[in-house]
Amino acid sequence: MENPLQIKRIHHVEFFVGNARQASFFYRKAFGFSQVAYRGQETGSRDLASYVLQQGKANFVLSTPLTPAHPAAEHIKRHGDGIRDIALEVADTDLAFEQALSRGAEAAEAPHDLKDEFGVVRRAAIRTYGDTIHSLLSRRGYKGSFLPGYAEQRIEGEDAGILRIDHMVGNVELGQMNRWAEYYSKIFGFHRYISFDDKDISTEYSALMSIVMSDDSYSVKFPINEPAAGKRKSQIDEYLEAYQGAGVQHIALQVKDVLATVDKLQRNGVPFLRVPDSYYDILRDRVGELEEPLEEIKRLGILVDKDEEGYLLQIFTRPVEDRPTVFYEIIQRKGSRGFGKGNFRALFEAIELEQARRGNL
Ligand code: FE2
Repeated sequence: MENPLQIKRIHHVEFFVGNARQASFFYRKAFGFSQVAYRGQETGSRDLASYVLQQGKANFVLSTPLTPAHPAAEHIKRHGDGIRDIALEVADTDLAFEQALSRGAEAAEAPHDLKDEFGVVRRAAIRTYGDTIHSLLSRRGYKGSFLPGYAEQRIEGEDAGILRIDHMVGNVELGQMNRWAEYYSKIFGFHRYISFDDKDISTEYSALMSIVMSDDSYSVKFPINEPAAGKRKSQIDEYLEAYQGAGVQHIALQVKDVLATVDKLQRNGVPFLRVPDSYYDILRDRVGELEEPLEEIKRLGILVDKDEEGYLLQIFTRPVEDRPTVFYEIIQRKGSRGFGKGNFRALFEAIELEQARRGNL
């Protein structure tokens, strides 16, 4: 199938946060990332400080404005801490940008060079849902530690076994899901991989709908959610209110040993959602034999789902900001390429308990 922008991979995810120095400490100490690079006043970046965190192939950039005039300040005022940029590495930035625009994308930044003594990286950006952008980076043999303007600055974290970003989910407004699925199809050449309607994803109180858009190799997957009508407020509505619009809801991090990773993250204090113990009473009947001990799965609160290709183990954190917005999924795939459809109901009931506690159900 086609790959009109010649996307190679998710290069990094950039967050705009109120205090990047403290956020980087959290991702190192709680999630086991290592800091690899930094930019700030010491490196000549006068109005933005950024910390680059890495684990496996996952790269996070945590940026904070140093003046109220920087656009990141407005982003934080409106959204709280959140994801600004899902940056994609492409073969040729100028070509990708031109293709994207001719297919209907809206420009965020025209192609330009980022330069330092280690070489040149070409950058452009297009808009996606809400205030989120996709920057398009081509590295052109760049030799520095991360990107031009960053100084190498390593602080080792205690690796927790995170391998890569499995998928990143966007929440969009009611009635907008198909528009954004269409955007990824038309501009990125992605295909509709799976969709879930409100019959798949509903509880007594609330519902949502979702379409998973994927590239041909299944290495870049962007599900898009929208709220659906229910008796009470959907968790997607709660997000849209808290984030003041569409944005990234969760990042799923793929791990090689979910039991080890979740055990470590829990000991580090990462707060996870828990489903009722009754979930585990019927688990064996629902999914059959597993390689992992059921007592350990239950102790850690991990969810399991199975399909014709295999099974997956997953668990979700609570939101990692005070606004109920961005959270994380930890996922281990054992053959399954799904998203845990069999867990939706139990999971969403657990989320609704939290919503009710916040007065948002
Ligand atoms: Fe997910």
